Amino acid sequence: MSTTEADPTTTTPTELPWHLQGNYGPIKEELTLDNLEVEGEIPAGIDGTYMRNGFNPISGWSDHWFFGDGMIHAVDLRDGRASITNRYVRTPVLEGDKDGFSMDPANSPANTNIVPHAGRLFALNEGFAPYEMDHDLNTIGMENFDGQIVGPFTAHPKLCPVTGEMLAFGYSVVGPEFLRYYRFDPAGNLVQSEPITLPTGVMMHDFNITENNVVWMDLPVCFSLDKAMAGEAPFGWTPDNGSRLGVMPRTGGDADVRWFDIEPGYVLHPVNSWEEGDTIVLVVCRLDSFMDGGFDDISGKAELWRWTIDLTAGTVKEEHLDDHKADFPRVNDRLVGLQTRFGYAQQLGHTPENPSMGQEIYKYDLQTGIPEVHDLGNVNGGEPVFIPRGEGGAEDDGWVVLFGHDVETDVSEFRIIDAQDFSGPPVARVFSPQRVPYGAHGNWIPRS
Ligand SMILES: [Fe+2]
Repeated sequence: MSTTEADPTTTTPTELPWHLQGNYGPIKEELTLDNLEVEGEIPAGIDGTYMRNGFNPISGWSDHWFFGDGMIHAVDLRDGRASITNRYVRTPVLEGDKDGFSMDPANSPANTNIVPHAGRLFALNEGFAPYEMDHDLNTIGMENFDGQIVGPFTAHPKLCPVTGEMLAFGYSVVGPEFLRYYRFDPAGNLVQSEPITLPTGVMMHDFNITENNVVWMDLPVCFSLDKAMAGEAPFGWTPDNGSRLGVMPRTGGDADVRWFDIEPGYVLHPVNSWEEGDTIVLVVCRLDSFMDGGFDDISGKAELWRWTIDLTAGTVKEEHLDDHKADFPRVNDRLVGLQTRFGYAQQLGHTPENPSMGQEIYKYDLQTGIPEVHDLGNVNGGEPVFIPRGEGGAEDDGWVVLFGHDVETDVSEFRIIDAQDFSGPPVARVFSPQRVPYGAHGNWIPRS
């Protein structure tokens, strides 16, 4: 196994906040490293690149985990060999053309997700405009589609596997417009842009699509301008604001949204959603509350829930499915918005020093809520992404991949798990000579 030299930025003066300690801490070098050491065997059928975005403050300091400069890690897999490349998203914030945090759409850290659509790649942060990158991880620049994206743009657009469309939104915490829906055609043209009415500004991190609808989540992590003006953390848990789901036809607009009240709770990430007859099923990683202690408090832990919206009765059935603490859920991307049996998620961390990345990965049966467990040993994991083996196979015929970090050896790995032998040993562990910090979201991009 490779070893990594201790990085002085991460040998943990304990006064650093948790998000700059250990493997949350940033790395300094942008490298391309070929012929990585592999334990096991990379399946020959895997041909493409896994790209993942994350937080890596170039100065070594950020006020919040979510604020660090975006850095993409890309693992390229071909003919059983692997290489890894890491590059910053080169934004005006990184280049020093802009000062700190502001609401200018160009001022993005571009650090939360990297999403392919219509042959292009977008580095996304939900507070700002998209940044486009090329497949060699050069930053092309801000892309607001000729000014048609008028404010922030979510880090969680949905790619429809049936139509090839990208469905997305932007939320703003200061009105009067709190939410806007965007729909892109399969060629990447923005073909619909609709303002959607919300009573107040809420943190809307993600949303849901089905075959015919999108479903909004108006959940009470609310923004307070008064708190912001007073220099206090502007977001916080505000259960009196209530919780609602809004069902809207994909080609519809504000007047078409049907709102359904639910119990107060929060969802950062849905697992998947679909239509069954006259109901809409949402399987989500749900917290009873979030940011109770304000914006800096992300200690809340999600568990698996199912919401079933009965469009005829006008009701929502809310079911707690499982009590493992888990988030960063994914499904086979060919079934986004369609009925799915399996969902994959990362166990959340247990300690104040590591709130996000636990040492188990779950493969849920979404009908029963029962997870199969992949034990990572001493390795803290990350978002598990599914790679299909080929065209037209079973839903779980493929591999689950993720970045992990061994807390004993300080070595980072890219792990490949057979999704149909989920609790078995990994198919391959690919070791990175340079540490890979914990990050946020990524995607598998097959070689075209
Ligand atoms: Fe997210």
